[in-house]
Amino acid sequence: MYAVQALSFPGLPIWKVLMKDQFGREITYLRLSVTDRCNLRCRYCMPEEGVCKLTHEDMLTEDEMIMAVETAASLGINKLRITGGEPLIKKNILSICERACAVPGITETAITTNGVLLPELAKPLRKAGIQRINFSLDTLDAEKYHRITRRGELKDALDGFYAALDAGFDKIKINAVLIGGFNDMEARQLAELTMQYPIDVRFIELMPMYDSGDFGEEAFISCDSVLEQLPEAVPQEADGGVAKLYRLPGALGNVGLISPVSSHFCGWCNRIRLTADGRIKPCLHSDDEFRIKGMNKEEMTETMKQAIYGKPQWHGEMSYTERTHTHRDMNQIGG
Ligand code: 5AD
Ligand code: SF4
Repeated sequence: MYAVQALSFPGLPIWKVLMKDQFGREITYLRLSVTDRCNLRCRYCMPEEGVCKLTHEDMLTEDEMIMAVETAASLGINKLRITGGEPLIKKNILSICERACAVPGITETAITTNGVLLPELAKPLRKAGIQRINFSLDTLDAEKYHRITRRGELKDALDGFYAALDAGFDKIKINAVLIGGFNDMEARQLAELTMQYPIDVRFIELMPMYDSGDFGEEAFISCDSVLEQLPEAVPQEADGGVAKLYRLPGALGNVGLISPVSSHFCGWCNRIRLTADGRIKPCLHSDDEFRIKGMNKEEMTETMKQAIYGKPQWHGEMSYTERTHTHRDMNQIGG
């Protein structure tokens, strides 16, 4: 079920457990959702009214989150991403980040945010140990930004983006979801941000989630059609992530194409997720969940092993007519 691997360090053998799932995939990446709430309401992510379903008692405490990260690290996970909802609205976010980033074995740390609160939090997050930021930005048009987020102001997001640039993260990536007839005509403009800034811009295919965004067939924009808008883009070597990488000539960063719908990447998926209400989700789109809320370290370790081992082979058929198989919206999973 799992292998113990010796890593060669001069004079000091370090033993590291590497957990493989039942299909032989090494699981090395945990996405920790610290809240399902958000200060925005992106149409493809969550319903207008939000989700006040979870009570305080349902949520993982900070100590439980840290114990979960420690448990994951003891099973070979070295990469951690903090997600939400919007993680930066969590009052104790800096303390969570500082403690989670310091867990032995965690060597890569990142956060996914809508960026609105970054003007105050970018530098403290960097100081807390966060190395990389993924920043959600679907449009550079203020009116459209307000429409897609149902309440956000583009200026706040851009101020957050500049604050992130200023804070000296190792890497900044913009995530954009293209929706046919709404912002697909902005693909080039968004991609060209890589000419101006040392960032990656990634286009993520719209995924049909549980309760949010009744989008029609015309809304789905495949990664292939994005590429048609960028004929001069040159393929780049993969960096181990799920995006196919390209670069515009003269650019400072890459354009990434993430195609969960048109061409799934389950075969090399290395991640598990932990929801804010304490469930391990071995696959974003499956209803399989393993509750760890309230467990001690030993129980948590056993449950996490089971969750990892039982990770489904792939997310099943998904298209604009066939929705995800999970009964959660994206904000309740963490993307
Ligand atoms: N389809 C594709 N991407 C989504 N995200 C949220 N909901 C969806 C969806 N239905 C992305 C956002 C954000 C990240 C957390 O997940 O763009 O960057
Ligand atoms: Fe909030 Fe991100 Fe979902 Fe938008 S995509 S509603 S910013 S969690």
